[in-house]
Amino acid sequence: MSTLSSQVVVTFPKDLSQESNRATILIADSDEDYRQLYSDLLRSEGFHTFCAKTVDQALAVLHHERIDIALVDGMMPKTNGMTVCRELRSNPETRLVPILLLTSWELAPGRAMGIDADADAYLKKPVNNIELITRVRTLLEKKRFTDNLENTEKMLLTLAELVEAKNPYNAGHGFRVSRTAVSLAARMGLSADDREWIRRGALLHDIGKVGVPDEILLKLGPLTAEEKSVLNSHTYVGARICAPLSSYRPLLQIIRNHHERLDGSGYPDGLRGKEISILTRVVSVADVYDGLTTRRPYRGSFSDMQAIHQIRREAEQGWWDLRILAALGTMVSFQCVPGRA
Ligand SMILES: [Fe+2]
Repeated sequence: MSTLSSQVVVTFPKDLSQESNRATILIADSDEDYRQLYSDLLRSEGFHTFCAKTVDQALAVLHHERIDIALVDGMMPKTNGMTVCRELRSNPETRLVPILLLTSWELAPGRAMGIDADADAYLKKPVNNIELITRVRTLLEKKRFTDNLENTEKMLLTLAELVEAKNPYNAGHGFRVSRTAVSLAARMGLSADDREWIRRGALLHDIGKVGVPDEILLKLGPLTAEEKSVLNSHTYVGARICAPLSSYRPLLQIIRNHHERLDGSGYPDGLRGKEISILTRVVSVADVYDGLTTRRPYRGSFSDMQAIHQIRREAEQGWWDLRILAALGTMVSFQCVPGRA
């Protein structure tokens, strides 16, 4: 430890906002000297720190405190620091907390460990003070960016719910489509990341209806061609509303293209086949299924099997993906449609 202890503690100019210096950092390291060193260094820069000697202590901090960055020693004894990383990633509340993994390994094994831990960055011990502070500040910027996106998404979800609430026949539509689409995606073996995009995209898919006048949205009779055109605009209007989430490309595709059909007869872009992402195709089928099985002012609701038959006819016509229809058939035949008795 003498090398580390003798390192000069560098003080960075306070040109960043005070906000950044109030971030809270978890230091999970079994070595007391290292813990003290990192904590002193980070506190001298204005950060709050929580130190954990063991994995259990680290997990307790994660459960009770709001952490902005986790500094984790990959070689903590017993279950080791990887457990802390996995716990962070598996908890929805902390899955986006940046992890800075500290390792005693040489470059290649250290990088492999970082990938395995799904860490955002890693540093080899002994850590250079300047590098540590620089990494922490970079990760903090990343965290702030993700937090802003998350807050924007929450706001948009509220807006989507308000739009649904305007039409009694549409109440809970986004939520049901989301649950059905995620279930279909799981049956098709899509990855956890894909399922997450589907969940979020389905919740927001009709948000553009906020731009559709009530007299069209709530009209009981058939729509004129002009009214249909206004209603159909909810696809690209929705994508425009969600444009601040520009780094969420799969989500924006779902919102814009959930009324496309495989044969190119959909809207707004007339996309065909694989031009429509698989995530969007799953949401489209879940959307149609929910529409059919929900009561409308001009008709009663279809039974599950009637809906399947209708979607099969449309799939044979070239509109929908047959693999998704197969997954829907399995889901319905096992009577496990999410949200239904
Ligand atoms: Fe729609």
